Amino acid sequence: MTAEYQVHGDVAVITLNNPPVNGLGYATRKAIVAGLNRAEDDAAVQAIVLTGAGAAFSGGADIKEFGTPQAMQQPNLPAVIAALEQVRKPVIAAIHSVCMGGGLELALGCHYRVVAPGCSVALPEVKLGLLPGAGGTQRLPRVLGVETALNMIVSGEAVKSEMLAALPGQKLFDKLAASPEALLDEAMAFAREVAAKHQAGAPLPLVRSLPCKHPQGDGYFGFARNMVRGMAKNFPAPLKCVDAVEAATQGKFEDGLRREGELFAQLMLTPESRALRHLFLAERAASKIPDVPADTPKRTIATVAVIGAGTMGGGITMNFLNAGIPVKLLEAKQEALDRGVATIRKNYEAQIKKGKLTQDKYEQRMALLSTTLAYADIANADLVIEAVFEDMGVKEAVFQQLDAVMKPGAILATNTSTLDVNKIAAVTKRPQDVVGMHFFSPANVMKLLEVVRGEKTAKDVLATVMALAKKIKKVAVVAGVCDGFIGNRMIEQYSRQAGFLLDEGCTPAQVDKAIEKFGFAMGPFRMGDLAGNDIGWAIRKRRYVEKPHMKYSKTADLLCEMGRFGQKTGAGWYDYQPGKRDAIPSPVVEKMLEEHRKSLGITPRKISDEEIVQRLVFALVNEGAHILEDGIASRASDIDLVYLMGYGFPLHRGGPMLYADEVGLFNVVQAMRRFAKNPYDDAAFWQPAPLLARLADEGKTFN
Ligand code: 3HC
Ligand code: NAI
Repeated sequence: MTAEYQVHGDVAVITLNNPPVNGLGYATRKAIVAGLNRAEDDAAVQAIVLTGAGAAFSGGADIKEFGTPQAMQQPNLPAVIAALEQVRKPVIAAIHSVCMGGGLELALGCHYRVVAPGCSVALPEVKLGLLPGAGGTQRLPRVLGVETALNMIVSGEAVKSEMLAALPGQKLFDKLAASPEALLDEAMAFAREVAAKHQAGAPLPLVRSLPCKHPQGDGYFGFARNMVRGMAKNFPAPLKCVDAVEAATQGKFEDGLRREGELFAQLMLTPESRALRHLFLAERAASKIPDVPADTPKRTIATVAVIGAGTMGGGITMNFLNAGIPVKLLEAKQEALDRGVATIRKNYEAQIKKGKLTQDKYEQRMALLSTTLAYADIANADLVIEAVFEDMGVKEAVFQQLDAVMKPGAILATNTSTLDVNKIAAVTKRPQDVVGMHFFSPANVMKLLEVVRGEKTAKDVLATVMALAKKIKKVAVVAGVCDGFIGNRMIEQYSRQAGFLLDEGCTPAQVDKAIEKFGFAMGPFRMGDLAGNDIGWAIRKRRYVEKPHMKYSKTADLLCEMGRFGQKTGAGWYDYQPGKRDAIPSPVVEKMLEEHRKSLGITPRKISDEEIVQRLVFALVNEGAHILEDGIASRASDIDLVYLMGYGFPLHRGGPMLYADEVGLFNVVQAMRRFAKNPYDDAAFWQPAPLLARLADEGKTFN
């Protein structure tokens, strides 16, 4: 049973009870209607209160049910709401904590609504690539006015109940309870009051009967469409939200409802909605580590130390200051320390200028920061994160020092992007306390954190770091130890393909444009110029020794040999004008590429945008499949999350693995077979990973 039924004197209380958020799955919907029928049949019951157990009134439709037969099984949500409207005794929603999506639509179908303060109220369907599909687009404008309702529907953002209750003329809430604790008593008292006034057989108030007009309808909706079109980018849902709300102002309620239903059904089938629903579930799945139970005890992290105040150390530090956690920053030299602190200040001051941070908050955050040159000063930190040069010798020396000074039980983390975390752990006498915390640049902005699990990393260390990630607002994904972990191991294959494309006839601009049109924020060459081409050069030099069999295009090395490191040297794959970031195609690079092709005996060919995109993206997919097989990632959705949150993979495509599922793994494998025949590519790489080959063969998907 997913809703409980109790009678308190003359009031029946139906309590949704489907943890964690009372999602409106099939069993819950059925139980609501059963409760309504029972209350109607009981002559002693004068009114009905509908509420939710635990931490929510309701978080809406059960997202996990989407795409399953239960989602379609009657009563669906519109049918439950229709049943509510037809009850001939007053039904009062008693709303608290979370009232979202279908939950709010359910409440809008009740005759009255009593709400507790502090409740988050939203129609967030747009964030799943949908629109409210159970009357929300038709009923919310009737109780809040067209403009407020449309803002809520198009943004999907939650608004606190007390703010909504204070809006002049609002009809969403009939009463604001004194507190969440008082809600149920107040709702029952309210129920008795309205029941006493209600004459049997007389109509009960319905939101659908309220008028819905905008005085300047055409002008307003034209304006709204222009605004929304600009923001919606690759997503169809926001504009459909405008269409649905406009329909609410134009005809009969039933016609608007029908229009909403059609639009909802269309959106449900779009790849963009599948991508966003995938992202929602992926984010939540990633926090679960298969062999680390949710109740694993966590270590207390009250203070943090960061080693190295460079690009990454400074950004990492800011994350903790922002979350109110004191940080001690350690450097080898005073100048480096001063430079690092100055950069942190500069970043905060830029936020103040943009109005994103107050002076007060800035000062509070800086007061949490202290600096030192001595390891003895950080001995008591609960967590230390190393962000020194990417050099095994330097890292080993740092970890030996940490092992010597840090208190027992302190977590020792490294921000290495490619080095072997097991090797780093092995220089300490406490490898169980060592873990990778791989932040992405700029570390104070990028949402992704790869948590690298060493062979000996203790389960409570992992559980602690995952919980801490949430506190500093990062999306954490667990990766096993290998060269590059999940993200950088895959990007290597993407970069290699980018290089081969140049060998064969593409220009950097052509490759960048094709992949940017696909939706990437930045193509590989513009990205290289931004990050610094010397970083990749240093990594490749190491790989030439470690993986001599691996084939690379020489173009990136030739570029670096010319000193063209990117924006910081004023020249890279593109030319740059002083002080500007616009990437200008470079005749020097063109010439270098031409000569390089000649030296290889390659006659350049015209390569289609489709081939460019497929080679870059399927390179990610094939390596992703190897990563899954090797157990470096626990699920395909973890890989997608890494790419969506850390590498600018287009959100509306849901990540490389979901994209491959959408294209069809059979088609992906066929393309790989074609690429393997290209003499200038790497035939060995394009052998489909066994997992990919098997899934394609069986007609299955990664997700
Ligand atoms: N259905 C099923 N499960 C849901 C859910 C939903 N609508 N909303 C949240 N959950 C689950 C999560 O998957 C997670 O499960 P897990 O513990 O197994 O991982 C658990 O609830 C807790 O979720 P969060 O980690 O997100 O917890 P928070 O406390 O941070 O946030 C929340 C709670 C505000 C409810 C947030 O989960 C949220 O925004 N949920 C989405 C709400 C939503 O989009 N509703 C609209 C659904 S579509 C709809 O209603 C269609 C209708 O118009 C027809
Ligand atoms: P950086 O060169 O900007 O900063 C390194 C800092 O460490 C310098 O300030 C240096 O003075 C200090 N340092 C060096 N040896 C030290 C020692 N023994 N003790 C104390 N301080 C010492 O380098 P960056 O870019 O910040 O990289 C740091 C680490 O983060 C590397 O492991 C890198 O691979 C990793 N990383 C870098 C990313 C990037 O985009 N820059 C992204 C993710 C990880």
